[in-house]
Amino acid sequence: MKLLVTGGLGFIGINFIMFALKKGHTIINVDKITYASNKEKKFLKNFKKYKFCKVDITNQIKLQKIIKSNLPDFIINFAAETHVDRSIKDPKSFIKTNIMGVYTILECCKKLLKLKKIKLIQISTDEVYGSLKYTGSFSEGDVYKPNSPYSASKAAADQLVRAYRKTFNIPSIIVHPSNNFGPFQNPEKLMPKTIINCIKKKEIPIYGKGLQIRDWLYVEDTAEAIHKVILKGKIGYNYNISTKNEMTNIKLVNKICNYFSNKTNVYKYNYKKLIKFVKDRPGHDFRYSLNNKKLRLIGWRYNRNFEKKLSQTIKWYLNRKI
Ligand SMILES: NC(=O)c1ccc[n+]([C@@H]2O[C@H](COP(=O)([O-])OP(=O)(O)OC[C@H]3O[C@@H](n4cnc5c(N)ncnc54)[C@H](O)[C@@H]3O)[C@@H](O)[C@H]2O)c1
Repeated sequence: MKLLVTGGLGFIGINFIMFALKKGHTIINVDKITYASNKEKKFLKNFKKYKFCKVDITNQIKLQKIIKSNLPDFIINFAAETHVDRSIKDPKSFIKTNIMGVYTILECCKKLLKLKKIKLIQISTDEVYGSLKYTGSFSEGDVYKPNSPYSASKAAADQLVRAYRKTFNIPSIIVHPSNNFGPFQNPEKLMPKTIINCIKKKEIPIYGKGLQIRDWLYVEDTAEAIHKVILKGKIGYNYNISTKNEMTNIKLVNKICNYFSNKTNVYKYNYKKLIKFVKDRPGHDFRYSLNNKKLRLIGWRYNRNFEKKLSQTIKWYLNRKI
């Protein structure tokens, strides 16, 4: 299949592209190259079925030209501003890329409908549903209650995707991954920041008391889930991607500190000393949890070995020049 991936130099995008190339798909990667994108492009260039275009998804003229000249079977939209802290300091770029960017993709699909009915997979997030207390999980039909400018921009994009399907017949599917981890993630996010700060023996800042609960999903499992949705997903459906691998942020950070204390520590350094609790961020969601039954019904199975995947991820950052 021919897949046009937007935001394919970001964390999940680059992992998805590697997965899809190995499956034999042709990839056209459209990325603006923001601060968040990966520079490790050399190994992608070795694939004959890979093409890169440096384009902003809000630029309709350029984007439409690329889509028209390639006429992909699917557009998979990963392109987004993604860091919640940044969305609190300056929401504008989130509104532009996450809402206007999706609007632009939809307009391109609409303009090209007569040539080809291109299907859109919109990568949303678990954060659109809002926060939960200790029990329960969100299902796909639940009401959106976003609490940050980031999640609000993602929620707005989802509504546009739905509206363009209903009004203009643009075929689309929305997926909601939970917190991803793995190689190629930007160091501003919790897991890579903790690993890198352990390597550099720098302070590890944790919001509040670190009691917020997140569900950790290995990025290759996400790639596999999106691939499954491409092959077997139903147009008009939303699919949650989650592993029920929930833990508090402090538990996760302690696990990483324990890894360094036990595996790399000749001088018996106490890595937990690096943890510093800082003032919580406004509107900080307490817990995310998703029901993944719909995705399992189309055959998705995920990797249950969190500890192994965590140590693989730590090793990846240890081996990379930081
Ligand atoms: N990382 C997670 O845990 C997670 C969880 C749930 C959902 N998501 C969603 O998955 C998608 C990918 O997340 P990620 O963590 O890989 O993001 P990321 O921040 O690592 O990468 C985003 C990529 O999009 C590109 N981009 C940004 N603005 C663009 C624009 N205007 N035009 C073209 N390219 C642009 C960037 O250059 C970057 O390469 C996002 O839509 C995000 O909302 C991420």
